[in-house]
Amino acid sequence: MQFGVISIFPEMYQALTDFGVTGRAVDKGLVSVDVWNPRDFTIDKYQTVDDRPYGGGPGMLMKVEPLKYAIEAAKAKLGSQSKVVYLSPQGETLTQDKAQQLAQEASLIFLAGRYEGIDERLIETQIDEEISIGDYVLSGGELASMVVMDSVIRLVPEVLGHDMSAVEDSFVDGLLDCPHYTRPEEHEGRKVPDVLLSGNHEKIRQWRLKQALGRTWEKRPDLLAKRDLSKEEDALLQE
Ligand code: ADE
Repeated sequence: MQFGVISIFPEMYQALTDFGVTGRAVDKGLVSVDVWNPRDFTIDKYQTVDDRPYGGGPGMLMKVEPLKYAIEAAKAKLGSQSKVVYLSPQGETLTQDKAQQLAQEASLIFLAGRYEGIDERLIETQIDEEISIGDYVLSGGELASMVVMDSVIRLVPEVLGHDMSAVEDSFVDGLLDCPHYTRPEEHEGRKVPDVLLSGNHEKIRQWRLKQALGRTWEKRPDLLAKRDLSKEEDALLQE
C-alpha cells in the first residue's frame, strides 16, 4: 500500500517509518511513505505557507496554493484516484472499522495541517475525507495522520508476523482485549491463571473470550450495546 503525506514537518514521519512494526513494513516494501512539503511548492522567497484569516481573529491559516500543488505532486506519483484525507477535529472519528475500510485502498494521501487549519476552499475542492482521532485538539495533523496510518498499516497483509495477530487484536471483533501474561509464572504473589498453563487450547479460547466480554462489559458497555452477542458469548456472560 502506498501512503503520501503533505506536511511542513517531513522529519516527524520517521517516527512511523524508522521504528517497530511500521518501520519493518516499510523496510520489507509492504508499504511506502512519501512526504511532500508544501514549502517546496511556494513561489515567494520566504516560502510562505500561511496567511492571516479574512475577517480577523487569532492565528494563521494554511494557504490554498502550496497545499494544492503538493497534493497534485503526490497524485502524480501515487495515482489520481488516491483519496485525500484531511486530519481535523471536525472529521469522522477513527474506529477500527474505519481503519479496515481505509486499508482496502491501494493508496492514500494524508494532509496534515498546522496553525489554525486550512482554507475552507481546499476542503471543498481537494479533500475526499476528513478524519479526527478524538475529541481533543492537537497542534497539527502530523501525529493524527501517523495514528491513522499505524492503524491501517497493521491491517496490510503480511505486515504482522503472526498470521492471526490482526484478527485477534482488540476491537477487531468489537470487544476489548483479554489479559495477557508472560514469564515468570508468579510475580509478587500473583500467579498466571491456571487455565493458561493447561495446554487445553479450547479451554484457553473460552477463557479469553469470557475475559474479553467481562472487561468490555465493565469498561466499555457502549461497545457491547453496538454489537450482537453470539450464542456462545451469551452463555459465557450468564456463567
Ligand atoms: N488536528 C488537530 N486536532 C486533531 C484531532 N483531534 N484529530 C485529527 N486531526 C487533528
